[in-house]
Amino acid sequence: MTQRRSIIAGVGSYLPERVVTNDDLAQTVETSDEWITGRTGIRQRRFAAEDEMTSDLAYQAALRALEHAGVPASDVDLIVLGTATPDHTFPATATRVQNMLGIRHGAAFDVQAVCSGFVYAISVADNFIRAGQAKTALVIGAETFSRILDWEDRTTCVLFGDGAGAVVLRAEDLPAGADPTAARGILSTHLRSDGAYKDLLYVDGGPSSTRTVGHVRMEGREVFRHAVTNLAEVVGESLAANGLTQDDIDWLVPHQANKRILDGTARKLKLAPEKVVVTVDRHANTSAASIPLALDEAVRDGRIQRGQLVLMEAMGGGFTWGACLARW
Ligand code: UT7
Repeated sequence: MTQRRSIIAGVGSYLPERVVTNDDLAQTVETSDEWITGRTGIRQRRFAAEDEMTSDLAYQAALRALEHAGVPASDVDLIVLGTATPDHTFPATATRVQNMLGIRHGAAFDVQAVCSGFVYAISVADNFIRAGQAKTALVIGAETFSRILDWEDRTTCVLFGDGAGAVVLRAEDLPAGADPTAARGILSTHLRSDGAYKDLLYVDGGPSSTRTVGHVRMEGREVFRHAVTNLAEVVGESLAANGLTQDDIDWLVPHQANKRILDGTARKLKLAPEKVVVTVDRHANTSAASIPLALDEAVRDGRIQRGQLVLMEAMGGGFTWGACLARW
């Protein structure tokens, strides 16, 4: 029996124009470039314009991914958008992007897994494709975290930025007799969550609780500790599921929360730092957008080459965490 899988046919991303440096933040918040750079590796971030919404960023990233894939929007029969900062409580931001792209068939919906949003979204779309329920999927991670930051809380407001990234997935049948780990496409995705940790990273508002949007709250040190452990575990699980080892990884494209987390994960995996794609210095933490933003950069500058093994991983509020292994 032929095995269907998802090929990553194209990638694209979009960053809003406004650059905000650590020194800019230090004008209004009790912080310094030295503290932010030393503790996180972040030097600057982008913030969306007043009239720019998550859907606007997502739409631009989607256009670029479709162009890169050479796929017309009319082919897309599924849009899965990871975001924790939707335009509205409902309808889903994905349906807004669907409309902007002029698509009136198929299905579009949002996935809420905060910083793991892209890994969750790509897993959902990959499973739709494997099941034969979609042929061409747009998977988007898009955020305007600047809208939910508490500017009085220096322990969180310096950490996040806005942006969007997207990939186009295409259904393809694995050639008969092909080695599934050597052939192009998504090898597997692995998702985890544990709601027992909700108080370590959350937003203190919502339609059903406070009837407000709320602000990001985080016990940074505790989240940090769990992040390195959980990520190493899910990465190990994804390699084992495919009979691969860390030596097989060509590129690690991680969620970008903190350079020290990236370094810690790379050390645990015994991966050379040159194999880790880092954008946190320029983008800060863009939550669900960070992986496709980093992926787009490394594909377009020629680092990621056809045939290479790419490992994506993320951890976020919930907790949620997960990994996706793909042969480029
Ligand atoms: O994407 C979702 C997942 N999120 C993450 O993975 C984030 C994980 N956590 C982290 O990245 C780090 O824990 C942080 C960057 C949030 C914080 O770094 P840390 O080394 O854990 O610092 P800390 O929270 O232990 O704070 C150290 C000190 C404190 O002062 P005292 O109590 O030692 O006097 C803070 O008050 O740094 C102080 N501090 C600041 N100082 C200047 C906290 N924020 C700031 C700030 N500027 N912005």
